[in-house]
Amino acid sequence: MSTFPNILLCLLLLFSSVFIDAEAAGAKTDSTHVARVLEALHQHDEEEACSSKEYEGSGLKIVDRHGPCSPLGEAKASLLQIIRQDQSRVNWLQSQQLNAAPPQFYAKEASVPTRHGTSLGTGNYIVTVGFGTPQKDMTVAFDTGSSLTWIQCQPCAGGCYPQQDPIFNPAQSSSYLNVSCNSADCSQVGLPTGCSSSSPTCIYSATYGDNSISRGFLAHDTLTLTASDVFPKFQFGCAQQSVGLFGRTAGLLGLGRREISLVSQTASKFGRVFSYCLPSTPSSTGYLKFGAEAIPAGVRFTPLLTKRGFPVLYFVDMVGIRVGGQALPIPASTFASGPGTIIDSGTVITRLPPAAYAALRSAFRQAMSSYTLAESPISLFDTCYDLSGVETITFPKIALSFEGGVDVDVVPSGILVALRDGGSQIVGCLAFAGNDDSRQVGIIGNRQQQAFAVVYDVAGGRLGFSPSSC
Ligand SMILES: *[C@@H]1O[C@H](CO)[C@@H](O)[C@H](O)[C@H]1NC(C)=O
Repeated sequence: MSTFPNILLCLLLLFSSVFIDAEAAGAKTDSTHVARVLEALHQHDEEEACSSKEYEGSGLKIVDRHGPCSPLGEAKASLLQIIRQDQSRVNWLQSQQLNAAPPQFYAKEASVPTRHGTSLGTGNYIVTVGFGTPQKDMTVAFDTGSSLTWIQCQPCAGGCYPQQDPIFNPAQSSSYLNVSCNSADCSQVGLPTGCSSSSPTCIYSATYGDNSISRGFLAHDTLTLTASDVFPKFQFGCAQQSVGLFGRTAGLLGLGRREISLVSQTASKFGRVFSYCLPSTPSSTGYLKFGAEAIPAGVRFTPLLTKRGFPVLYFVDMVGIRVGGQALPIPASTFASGPGTIIDSGTVITRLPPAAYAALRSAFRQAMSSYTLAESPISLFDTCYDLSGVETITFPKIALSFEGGVDVDVVPSGILVALRDGGSQIVGCLAFAGNDDSRQVGIIGNRQQQAFAVVYDVAGGRLGFSPSSC
């Protein structure tokens, strides 16, 4: 067997990621961004300190789990490492569909073995919330792609992975209660649940991408989001066995659509409305807000849809793409003929239907024809440019168009990702990818949501973007 793929893999792992920040580094026109390549590279080469932002009102601070603001002390991950995990999340999201086309990615590229405490498949962003009485703070990943909230619980009978916070001990919470096996709540989790002959407690089992799992008791206890947002009898999973890509988090905060979701369980106070603003660099912070104050001024809404066969995910009606201000000639049926497009907090890179991606790639390549196109793809990216020796780069603006006349102008770091090998070679890649098959669900990834407040008005059936609220 050839060792070539392994060598290639090692080379790729040497790349470190940088963000091209055109706002800081260069000028802007109506149809293009201009960025100074080296300046942008150097800005992000250095170890940056956490610059935490304070927001008005209540809300949870969102932190990039791989950046300096994270309390988890996980190993730093390169963008390419994160993007490999990204495909396992995408495969998992796409596999939620009945009769989905099988995922193809690992046939094309060697998979990277997953290890505890290094990286993640489910949620790059973390928040800290309180469980129990007295309240114990837990740092968890938040996830719009799943609905059950769970945390690792003592005694971890089936094995827990190492986490940063002390593992929750139900015996020390005066408000903790198991959900019993024959309760209606046990059958409404939307996940496999069951009972064992030795235990009257409802047992759940959740699986995620890359064989990550969480299993344990369904329980309820007090959930404290902020001092004024306290929810007694919040239902969650008290995990007795968890394995996989959860890093050093204490668990997961489920913001999906099912009844067990945080969104549903807090509906009487928050009316099924939440919004987030994702940090635009690893060293900055964002927010997760709930209720009326989650809707900022100046937000523009597109319909938020549900699709048969996808009870958890949030669908939007994507209708087109603009490159350099020009709408691409993509027939509306390209977006409508497959299962549609979801918006997801945990996927990094936007995945488009094959025909839409092909149109985007061709328009982007045309606009970038004065740069040297790299011969081979890098991970997910097949449109990369050798930027060695390039001082300033001009690249077209990209906007994603949604039903209702909503155009989302993707920020520069969501258009081009810059990577370097620690030596002289600098590569900039188009930060989008195509699905393998038109029957796979499209996904608006978090890289393309950066710098926007994204508002999920689930009760109102609308999803909003606000460019000036982060
Ligand atoms: C919850 O259920 C488990 C399994 O039956 C049991 O071991 C544990 O003691 C229960 N905890 C409480 C507080 O009832």
